[in-house]
Amino acid sequence: MRKKIVAGNWKMNMDLAEGLKFAGSIDKYFKDKPSARALPILCTPFIHLAGVSEILKHGKVALGAQNCASEASGAFTGEVSAWMVRSTGAEYVILGHSERRMYYHEDDMLINKKTLLAINSGLKVIFCCGEVLSEREAGSHFQIVKRQLEVGLFTLSEEQMDKIVVAYEPVWAIGTGLTATPDQAQEMHKFIRDKVKEKYGNDCAKKLPILYGGSCKPSNAAEIFSKPDVDGGLIGGASLKREDFVAIVEAMQ
Ligand code: 13P
Repeated sequence: MRKKIVAGNWKMNMDLAEGLKFAGSIDKYFKDKPSARALPILCTPFIHLAGVSEILKHGKVALGAQNCASEASGAFTGEVSAWMVRSTGAEYVILGHSERRMYYHEDDMLINKKTLLAINSGLKVIFCCGEVLSEREAGSHFQIVKRQLEVGLFTLSEEQMDKIVVAYEPVWAIGTGLTATPDQAQEMHKFIRDKVKEKYGNDCAKKLPILYGGSCKPSNAAEIFSKPDVDGGLIGGASLKREDFVAIVEAMQ
């Protein structure tokens, strides 16, 4: 059985007090439950990590960052290294998010460098991939995702692949209210799993959690999660509302 995961990507939302309060309410919800249907992960801004880590310490919710530096340490003003993230108690980091690719010009090579650094620092990586609308319309979405995987991920060893969660996020579905249909998600998730199988073999491909992201909400999560190659979600907007986030975790079969 593959690990089921629902990760909330807070993006650049909530100040410190708001974030700590929110994390506390999520922690309490899952503590009171006998077992969650999926592992909930909160991916917070850097400044929240240490405080949220304390709050989540004895609970059932995991913690992640949304980015890390492409260098290990040194004179890189304003950057936060993978090891610093790990030292807060966070276990995960999102890398390759389309907003980083788009607004901060992160390319596949840079994302690959960060991914290796994160894994070598003891983090697990939520590796994002996905096409923009024009690529989907041109029918090149499989080619784009293939390149993102091959350059960004496939330099890893099979052992390192154990530390990877892939998130397929069609960029046209992020924050737009447009969702990929469950069949579109399944089709791409299967494609991703097949590519991993070709490169690393069946065992590795079978174990790999692949999450869907892009306007996932309580009303569509169950149907998307019901697809055989969809192992959970990476949630933006709806992860900022407690009821919505827990409902999406509960939507896992
Ligand atoms: P939305 O759920 O707001 O569309 O964002 C998805 C996302 O980018 C998660 O990383």
